[in-house]
Amino acid sequence: MNIHPFEAEFGAEVTGVDLRVQNEEAFADIYSAWLNFGVLRFRDQPLDDEALQAFSARFGPLEEMPLGLMPEEWHRKINNRFVTVLSNIMVDGKPIGGLGNGEANWHSDMTYVDDPPPASVLLGVEIPARGGDTHFADQCTACDVLPEALRKSIVHLNIKHDAAHTSVGSLRPGYDTFEDPRDAPGTVHPIVLEHEETGRSCLYLGRREWAYVTGLTFDESESLLDELWSYAILEENQWRQRWRAHDVVVWDNRRVLHRRDGFDANHRRMIRRCQVLKVSAVPPT
Ligand code: OGA
Ligand code: MN
Repeated sequence: MNIHPFEAEFGAEVTGVDLRVQNEEAFADIYSAWLNFGVLRFRDQPLDDEALQAFSARFGPLEEMPLGLMPEEWHRKINNRFVTVLSNIMVDGKPIGGLGNGEANWHSDMTYVDDPPPASVLLGVEIPARGGDTHFADQCTACDVLPEALRKSIVHLNIKHDAAHTSVGSLRPGYDTFEDPRDAPGTVHPIVLEHEETGRSCLYLGRREWAYVTGLTFDESESLLDELWSYAILEENQWRQRWRAHDVVVWDNRRVLHRRDGFDANHRRMIRRCQVLKVSAVPPT
């Protein structure tokens, strides 16, 4: 197995490994590369759902689709309860997956819960000819490059992360609209996250839309967030994934932000996805 760091100083391509084969030693190397680089890409991995689930589950327990909320006639359409589908493809007039074809703004996943998932794993299945790229931005570096005074001013501050909207900006079922981010339902986290495994400090902004720095006035919160976001998404701290079918990408959701470009509604895109709920004990190296 070889690890080739990307130019951006985070993220790496891993070659010479078949993710369908369970090998303790190889996984220990993958796990430490994931912590070191924040995002890993593996090309030419034609995984079925069971293999995607098995690989993802090595990081820790996976999120499971709650069948209880679903009409029973849908159950048989689910191939694997640990694999969700992101797609704009319609079957019988209904989308077969989430997120559609719109742009998804910068975010990390599910920061509106108390313990957000540490890892997300995506597999490219159908890829549009243009658009639909996924971009990543390193928040450890973002934290390192903050001017000293700004960094000092945020060490004890927290952000409330909105739970009501999805990453494409639509309201989740069961939530009411509101006009003011101070009224958003959600969870509060420190702006600077101490990474539990690497010990590094990362900016932890979640999403710009509907965010609020608690304890500040609305205007103070908005201008502080705008300033922090200008460092969070510096061009030189970004890496762009141009998808090919059979690409697997896994990122450290505590460390990087991601966003997705929109794409033509007439093109098909399908990504299959697992979400790791918490990390298991760090494997031996
Ligand atoms: C996600 C996500 C981006 C994409 O899976 O959390 O934001 O490229 N997806 O589809
Ligand atoms: Mn996401």
